[in-house]
Amino acid sequence: MPEGCRCAGIAGLGIYVPERVLTNQDLEKMVDTSDAWIRERTGIRERRIAAPEEATSDLAAAAARAALADAGITAGEVDLIIVATATPDTLFPATACLVQEKLGADRAGAFDLLAGCSGFIYALACGAQFIAGGAADTVLVVGAETLSRIVNWEDRNTCVLFGDGAGAAVLRPAPREKGILATLLGSDGSGGTLLQLPAGGSRLPASQRTVQENLHYIQMNGREIFKFAVRVMGDAALEVVRKAGLSPEQIDLFIPHQANIRIIDAAARRLGVPMEKVVVNVDRYGNTSAASVPLALADARDAGRLCRGANIVMVAFGAGLTWAAAAVRW
Ligand code: ACO
Repeated sequence: MPEGCRCAGIAGLGIYVPERVLTNQDLEKMVDTSDAWIRERTGIRERRIAAPEEATSDLAAAAARAALADAGITAGEVDLIIVATATPDTLFPATACLVQEKLGADRAGAFDLLAGCSGFIYALACGAQFIAGGAADTVLVVGAETLSRIVNWEDRNTCVLFGDGAGAAVLRPAPREKGILATLLGSDGSGGTLLQLPAGGSRLPASQRTVQENLHYIQMNGREIFKFAVRVMGDAALEVVRKAGLSPEQIDLFIPHQANIRIIDAAARRLGVPMEKVVVNVDRYGNTSAASVPLALADARDAGRLCRGANIVMVAFGAGLTWAAAAVRW
């Protein structure tokens, strides 16, 4: 953070994952795939699937309540709610407004942010700027997804990869040299069609034809996304470490977006961080997009891996194409 600005830190963390577990063995009965293929190519063993009555705002509100409780503050103290999601309840109103209502956060502004799987770190960077500039004291940042609703359950190329969940962080002013030390955001719209949900927007409104042609489901060029991810994850992490005035050896914990264990391995190698410093939970949750980084962060906290003063680097890539990284001192 530049001189004279307030630093923002994470004052509370909360998560919510749906109860229903969908294992690779379950998927073997749905599409032509195998547990061995999924584990070897992705590292995923199981993922969570939202109940029929649950939508993204329900997951987001549950995670937000847990984060507020963890921070020891009430909903009435929240100035701003940012919900990062690619699976909003509806195109409008914003899911953040639904969360505001569910929490009873009656003083808060609220908006959604769409940056694919990079969404949580984008929202973290955004919330930190509101605090740095003095426009807000307490920002609730949520990454929440119900990807199960936009996955084609007959397409083995995509349906094995994704899961549902939500993670939330409360941002508040932090002492200098603590909290969010540096952030980095990137995008390359020329790769937008590599990972997209083609129908339902103004370009291709929903119609019988779009449904018949499955254009309301995720479409992905897995190989190209893989190459892109391996390149940007390592580069963005290295760049944010440099911006924070750190060296890779000073990283205590590396929290990459949980899309694929092979992408995580490659990013850790590029950064020069050994795997014992890397948080991995892709085996239990699959790719939960904007929820992935906060779910991993909370896992690290629950495992006692977030020590006071630890240097943490988070990095993600996603639809857009986008990438984002943050260096945080705990
Ligand atoms: N079970 C069995 N076989 C499968 C499955 C499956 N579930 N899925 C694909 N295959 C087959 C393919 O059809 C292909 O067969 P073919 O050679 O006969 O055509 C073969 O396996 C190999 O396919 P590849 O695409 O080369 O497999 P790869 O090793 O690249 O793994 C994967 C595919 C897992 C999708 C990988 O490319 C990947 O992880 N890409 C990144 C995806 C990602 O992270 N997306 C999320 C982005 S973030 C966001 O914003 C949501």
